[in-house]
Amino acid sequence: MKTKIKLQLCLSLFLSLGLVNADPDPLLDYCIADTSNPHYYLSNGPPCLNQDLASSSHFSTSALSKAGNTSTNKFGFSVILTTNQILPGHHTQGLSMARIDINPNGLVPPHSHPRASEVTTCLKGEILVGFVDTSNKMYTQRLRPGESFVFPKGLIHFLYNVDQKGPSMAISGLSSENPGTQVASLATFTTTPSMPSIVLEKAFKIDAQEVIRISNHLQG
Ligand SMILES: *[C@@H]1O[C@H](CO)[C@@H](O)[C@H](O)[C@H]1NC(C)=O
Repeated sequence: MKTKIKLQLCLSLFLSLGLVNADPDPLLDYCIADTSNPHYYLSNGPPCLNQDLASSSHFSTSALSKAGNTSTNKFGFSVILTTNQILPGHHTQGLSMARIDINPNGLVPPHSHPRASEVTTCLKGEILVGFVDTSNKMYTQRLRPGESFVFPKGLIHFLYNVDQKGPSMAISGLSSENPGTQVASLATFTTTPSMPSIVLEKAFKIDAQEVIRISNHLQG
């Protein structure tokens, strides 16, 4: 009986540790992602391109040289992430980069990356950044060009452009080639299918009308 409980404890400990593992170490010098390979989803990420076909261009991208479109969401920001399509040479290296552009008074709303910690450097404008730890302690900082801030792995964080006239821009490094993103407001009020209204009513202490109103605002 006792050993069974110990076993279960160990198992749940291993399972929860597994959730915060870094990307696995590479087994080769590099593995250029062959995203055209039809067996893409049969392995943990894309297979490697034949190394004889490797070239410098696989390790290079100009994708972050231009701002993305900040009009494709309601918050006024854009993020360009170095995916395996954009930068196939970073596959298996356990990292990625992102360019974040934010409109005047635009917001990258509270979100988390389940697989990556992030360090962001402000390159333009003035950005109010912050994250919340698991005891609900809030950390905030105003970043000016050249200043950096760490968002610990998996914790909810945001970036707000405090300038009401000029755009702001930041570059981030992330500790996974596939960080994943969950936006807190969208992951509750705009899921498919919808989260049961009663759950949202009770979780946020609001009524059914307010659930509909918030969902419409975030979607419409
Ligand atoms: C940016 O996105 C908006 C909304 O989807 C679209 O109307 C506009 O044409 C896009 N601008 C560019 C330069 O692609």
